[in-house]
Order: sequence, then C-alpha cells, then structure tokens
Amino acid sequence: MSIFPLITIAIDGYSSSGKSSMARQLAKTIGYRYIDSGAMYRAVALYAMEHNMINPEGTIDTRSLIAALPEIKIGFRIEDDRQITTLNDRDVESQIRSMAVSNHVSPIAAIPEVRHALVAMQQQMGEQKGIVMDGRDIGTTVFPDAEMKVFVNASPQTRAQRRVAELIEKGIATTYEEVLSNVINRDHIDETRAESPLRKADDALVLDNSTLTIDEQNSWLLERFHEICSNL
Ligand code: DC
Repeated sequence: MSIFPLITIAIDGYSSSGKSSMARQLAKTIGYRYIDSGAMYRAVALYAMEHNMINPEGTIDTRSLIAALPEIKIGFRIEDDRQITTLNDRDVESQIRSMAVSNHVSPIAAIPEVRHALVAMQQQMGEQKGIVMDGRDIGTTVFPDAEMKVFVNASPQTRAQRRVAELIEKGIATTYEEVLSNVINRDHIDETRAESPLRKADDALVLDNSTLTIDEQNSWLLERFHEICSNL
C-alpha cells in the first residue's frame, strides 16, 4: 500500500525510449502498481502468431483475430521482483520481447478492435488509481484525466543502441542495423495509424532522456511526482 496520495500516472513515448524502466522504478519507489501496456499488445501479437493468423508475408487474418479477442486473457504477476506477462495464464515474458514479436506488433496494435479491447482492460486496471502505466496513448486515450502525464523521447539511434544492449543481455541475437530499422519502422506505424496514434498529450511534461543517466531520469520523475502531489 502506498503512503502517497493515489493518483494516475501516464508515461508515453517512443519505443525503447526507456519509459518502461523509469515507469517501473517510479511505481516501485512510491508503492504503486505498474502496468506495461506495450506488453499487452505484444501478447496479442504472440497469440496471433501462435494461431497462424499472420501469414509469411506478414498479412494478418484480422477477422479471426477480432473473433478470438474474448479468448485472449492477459495478466501480470511479480516473480523474484520481476514483472511477468501472462497470456491465458502462461508465462510469455521472454517470448513477447523477441524480434519476431517486435516485427509484428505495430500492425496488430493498429487494429481498432484490438485497441478497444485493450484500452477497456487498461481502464479497468486503473480504476482504483495508484497506478503507473506506460505506452503510447495512455495520457491521450486511456487516462485523459491522469493527474501526471509524461512524454518521453530520445533519438532513434540512442533508442536502438539501448534495445541492442537489452536484447544481448537477454541472449537474443540481433544487430544494430536490424534494431534501428525496426525502431524507425515502428515509430512510423505508431505515429501514422488512424486509431489513437502516438502523440504527446497537450498537458504532458516532456522528457528527452538522450543524454540523461538512468538515475538522473528517475530523480526527475520522482521530483515531478512530489510536485504534483503537493499541488493536489
Ligand atoms: O512499448 P513496446 O515497444 O513494448 O510496444 C509494443 C508495440 O505496441 C508498439 O509497436 C506500440 C504498441 N503500443 C500501442 O500502440 N499502444 C500502447 N499503449 C502501447 C504499445
């Protein structure tokens, strides 16, 4: 239980901008619940891949996926201080981080019915407040009334370098070029999709963390949180 006032914190930004790490750390420090909404879109992409709803050319069988949405149960649990994403009660945390899922997730996240289903789940998760959620449309669509909104950015090159380091640490083989092209491609799909595209909410605080250390960005975020709470 948190000793702080319970507010809603929305952290949006580009892929691999470091928003998940900072959101997770903030939630831990202030005793809030953390939800990685990107993991939910990734879990739906994995489901579609496992059920042969994506052909080798990358075309999605949208109709079957929409019909299957009520069967897709996504959850989170904590294990050894690590957040695990579950898909129909199965631990899929490593699988959803693979390049294969990264390559398919943006078109899946552009399907309006997928977004409606996941946004409804996310809003339900945030009903009690005391939550930090990160994603692309949290401050604009999921929680437009969030008391604290942050939009995080860094250059595509910086983000690709971070992602390569992350993947290597997890033992996933990749190259900088492959990751950079995936980052640029995903930015484009996320920014240009018709349904809640990635954009900064008008009332979001902006953080460009290209030149900040992890400690610096965590301190920045915690200071903003205290400021907002003291003005409630
Ligand atoms: O943050 P991430 O890279 O794990 O997100 C995976 C994909 O899901 C990415 O292509 C954008 C999409 N996404 C989204 O459309 N809306 C969100 N709230 C979170 C992620």
